[in-house]
Amino acid sequence: SIAYVNGSFVPLSEAKVSVLDRGFLFADGIYEVAAVLDGKLIDNASHLARLERSVGEIALKLPETVARIIEIQKELITRNKLVSGLVYLQVTRGADTGRDFAFPKSGVKSSLVMFVSEKEIVDAPSAKTGVGVITVPDIRWERRDIKSVALLAQVLAKQAAAEAGAAEAWMLEDGFVTEGGSSSAFILTQDDVIVTRQNSNAILPGCTRKAVVALAEERQLRVEERPFTVAEAVAAKEAFITSASVFVQPVVTIDGKTVGTGKPGPMATRLREIYVDFAK
Ligand code: PDD
Repeated sequence: SIAYVNGSFVPLSEAKVSVLDRGFLFADGIYEVAAVLDGKLIDNASHLARLERSVGEIALKLPETVARIIEIQKELITRNKLVSGLVYLQVTRGADTGRDFAFPKSGVKSSLVMFVSEKEIVDAPSAKTGVGVITVPDIRWERRDIKSVALLAQVLAKQAAAEAGAAEAWMLEDGFVTEGGSSSAFILTQDDVIVTRQNSNAILPGCTRKAVVALAEERQLRVEERPFTVAEAVAAKEAFITSASVFVQPVVTIDGKTVGTGKPGPMATRLREIYVDFAK
């Protein structure tokens, strides 16, 4: 496929940055992942607003305007004839002349790379069967609201999940679920309240989470934004995760324990349909 690297469209296998790139050396960078359905970007304004917020929080200047970034995203979709999948974008504080922790002196331009991947999101088999999650301690830093490329904790969490045959790891702090390694975590209580943790520095403000909460509230469904424990999740009627890459994905086991009926529940299924309609 064709990727974008600092002004050029190149085959992904030839897309390269310097070993001095600060994304590589320090994880000094921000990323975004937006879904593509029928060749169109889904909820992209929300992803780009979060990108601008994230870069602002670490005083990183985008090397291109947001309008230009959208053009590049669209050009990648066209060049790759992408129908269903994801557009990844990453901006880092560029490559200095050596390995200095402090920001480079002016004149070093931040680096922007983008690529696409094909993925069937709407008709994913796991949406019909549901997936398992495991729980792990949340060992991340205290600014999880910034979508930083420093993802080692999530790499380890999701590897542990993969080894356990699970699709995602829910991370725990002070007895409460923060979020998934790359998704927002939800439950439906026995009295039909949709619960997801409130936004704060403890979690990434998920774009899909935001849309799902708004869509649910528009339909007079009850939503509570508050933390929940693993015990509450295991005892819940339903559980699910949301992200650009899975939309709304039913969760049927947590640490091997069955949630609800062990099958995707009506609420997760309904919210998934509602989100797909919103995306289309
Ligand atoms: N992950 N929480 C974390 C830690 C995430 O990494 C993500 C997204 C989400 C969901 O956010 P959104 O709904 O905006 O995709 C929540 C992306 C998909 C990734 O890392 O691949």
